Amino acid sequence: MYTPSSVMLLVLVFMTILMATASAGNFYQDVQVYFGDERANISDGGNSVCLSLDNITGSGFVSNREYLFGRFDMHIKLVPNDSAGTVTTYYLSSQGPNHDEIDFEFLGNATGQPYKIHTNIYCNGQGNREQQFFPWFDPTTEFHEYTVIWNPQRIIFMVDDIPIRVFNNNEAFGIPFPNSQAMKIYSSIWNADSWATEGGLVKTNWTYAPFTACYRDFNVSATCVDSSESSSCGSSNTNSQTSVAAWETQGLDAEDQEKLMWVQNTLMVYNYCTDYKRFPDGCPPECNRPRFLQ
Ligand SMILES: *[C@@H]1O[C@H](CO)[C@@H](O)[C@H](O)[C@H]1NC(C)=O
Ligand SMILES: *[C@@H]1O[C@H](CO)[C@@H](O)[C@H](O)[C@H]1NC(C)=O
Ligand SMILES: *[C@@H]1O[C@H](CO)[C@@H](O)[C@H](O)[C@H]1NC(C)=O
Ligand SMILES: *[C@@H]1O[C@H](CO)[C@@H](O)[C@H](O)[C@H]1NC(C)=O
Ligand SMILES: *[C@@H]1O[C@H](CO)[C@@H](O)[C@H](O)[C@H]1NC(C)=O
Ligand SMILES: *[C@@H]1O[C@H](CO)[C@@H](O)[C@H](O)[C@H]1NC(C)=O
Repeated sequence: MYTPSSVMLLVLVFMTILMATASAGNFYQDVQVYFGDERANISDGGNSVCLSLDNITGSGFVSNREYLFGRFDMHIKLVPNDSAGTVTTYYLSSQGPNHDEIDFEFLGNATGQPYKIHTNIYCNGQGNREQQFFPWFDPTTEFHEYTVIWNPQRIIFMVDDIPIRVFNNNEAFGIPFPNSQAMKIYSSIWNADSWATEGGLVKTNWTYAPFTACYRDFNVSATCVDSSESSSCGSSNTNSQTSVAAWETQGLDAEDQEKLMWVQNTLMVYNYCTDYKRFPDGCPPECNRPRFLQ
């Protein structure tokens, strides 16, 4: 049977599991451009990559390695000025049917209007867990760090080390959690003016093309699960790791909880858990759990 768990079992049986040390990645070694050709432009010795969108296509890159849990940091400077209609992404996704996904998406806006940081989680091909936030800074003038922590207990989305969202493993309550399919890291920019800005009202103005977002200081500390013979596990140095890395058990301490509450109470602009119109028969079950345990 071709099921995610049987595939995963094969992966575990036949392939190596490596632990990466925390160290900076190199875009030349660690990613492939999977669309957009020269619109994805690696520079600075592999430390930076800029992705462009023009009226023909966007562009994107995907990691060579696959990961099952880890900490994934990326510094991103988003499209400046008029970015309405554009979507810039940084996400993790498994391959094949019934996929799992952990998403950061950045929805552009007209000059001077705020971006939205859009987050979502897919388990076994099912998403519908969107939460959106306004950033507390202008994400187009400087690089800011966007982090996914993914361990067997929870997923934490962080911006500049401030947790904005947590999604816990509630399998004990019958709620799915992505923990059996390895994922790759993806980043892309594309035209989504049918929905991205003010629900699709504000269109991409191609006068301003190309639209360019830049990525740098890619840093992965993770468990790699794949057959690659390359020595790289999302970074240029790989060693077996004997001690437990912080991300493996990371949760939210009192200070983190306070920060998360601040973001959620003041900057959250959409929460699927309170969209009663969309879920007239009741919101998904994790929404009924206490806030930090959702
Ligand atoms: C990479 O991240 C780890 C934490 O996971 C941190 O200790 C390390 O300093 C970072 N390295 C770079 C080059 O940013
Ligand atoms: C790629 O980046 C380099 C360095 O930033 C720049 O000089 C060059 O014009 C860029 N190429 C393209 C095709 O955008
Ligand atoms: C796309 O942009 C180029 C460069 O600005 C322009 O010459 C071309 O006409 C545009 N094509 C379309 C289909 O809009
Ligand atoms: C675009 O944004 C940059 C930096 O945010 C600013 O310096 C520049 O003047 C802007 N350009 C236009 C045409 O608004
Ligand atoms: C764009 O700006 C408008 C007006 O300030 C705001 O309502 C909207 O949420 C912003 N973001 C997006 C992605 O539409
Ligand atoms: C696109 O931008 C140009 C240059 O600022 C402006 O003249 C034009 O009206 C804009 N188009 C739309 C549809 O807003």
